[in-house]
Amino acid sequence: MTRITKSQSIQHTENSSNLYGFTLKDSVDMGVTNSKLISPRLRDRPIAARQWQRYIEKKIGFVLPDEQFQWLLNAVERTAAENTLSLSQLWDAVQTDNQLNQQLLDTVLIPESRFFRHQPSIDFVTALAAQYCQQSRHSCVEDCLERPVGSRVDRNVDKNNQPFRIWSVGCSTGQEVWSLAMSLTASHIANYKILGSDVSQQALHRARTGQYDQRQQQLIPFAYQRFMQSVVLSEQKDRQTVSQRQVDMNSQEVPRLVLDSAVPNKNLATWQITPQLHEHVDFIWHNIFTKDPATLHLQHVILCQNMLIYFRQFDQRDILTRLAAQCELGGHIILAPGEALFWRPSNMRRVTHSKVNVWQKISA
Ligand SMILES: C[S@@+](CC[C@H](N)C(=O)[O-])C[C@H]1O[C@@H](n2cnc3c(N)ncnc32)[C@H](O)[C@@H]1O
Repeated sequence: MTRITKSQSIQHTENSSNLYGFTLKDSVDMGVTNSKLISPRLRDRPIAARQWQRYIEKKIGFVLPDEQFQWLLNAVERTAAENTLSLSQLWDAVQTDNQLNQQLLDTVLIPESRFFRHQPSIDFVTALAAQYCQQSRHSCVEDCLERPVGSRVDRNVDKNNQPFRIWSVGCSTGQEVWSLAMSLTASHIANYKILGSDVSQQALHRARTGQYDQRQQQLIPFAYQRFMQSVVLSEQKDRQTVSQRQVDMNSQEVPRLVLDSAVPNKNLATWQITPQLHEHVDFIWHNIFTKDPATLHLQHVILCQNMLIYFRQFDQRDILTRLAAQCELGGHIILAPGEALFWRPSNMRRVTHSKVNVWQKISA
């Protein structure tokens, strides 16, 4: 989604004339009601536009920035048209029809993400995971040495065997989750689980399939290209496939070069996350605006990047409090640089780091 400054987006008050603090008359002055921009059905019903904006915020806490005002109107219209409903029928129906409500959210939300979007955060989490696994192995060895000879180790109750748990909140189409999985696996960390959650079903579907276009694939550093395989080439049995080549994890080949020369239109190529990463990763639907927990497991790291900026400050604070409750003692919460700098929790300390906006839980 387009990143906007808070002053641009959340200037309104509860008493302001509409969600973004401008009236429909103002929006005419701003050129928003240019006939090319606003469809006749909504222009005739200005009150409806304001209602839809509030509706989205009430459901998911997400304050659509005024730059996306037109996008919202189009999304509402599209959802109504796809269901052969008038706008007022759609309004009535979404109040009780969860499926329709989800369809509207999926149309309104613009899930945007990138592989290795913020490398320092990924490196930070990888270092934490490596440290955790090393400590687990160390205490496991000590534990085994102290165990009476012949006693059995029950892996299900052995706390040393607990995976390193990471939760990516607002994971969008999954690139953050897969980037972390690539980084941890490349660092020979095997005992980890990453949970990605989002309120957009459409984004989650794309995240789960783990298929991306060439533009996305090219954002992945060379060292991790081995975790991508070409779907286009792997379906052509008469050629040596990229995926076959990539089974060899030590291969230093650059798959992109193979793809460029073998596929006529490289923009049509689809790349697939290799199966070995899937076992570590899970994606679930979850609305962070509600109090329902996404998972019963406490997490070693919670990443919530590039999402909070779309929420009001008091909602950001509530969300962060819930994330802190879901964090292991000694665990970390990572936000995007510059996000939620107002936050002063009593049970977390700000970790000094030049590139990562990170907090550590210091008390329950
Ligand atoms: C800009 S994307 C950020 C993606 C990813 N974290 C990154 O940094 O690349 C913001 C995501 O937040 C999700 N989102 C918005 N409101 C949400 C809510 N209430 N609960 C969960 N996810 C939400 C959107 O669907 C979208 O996918």
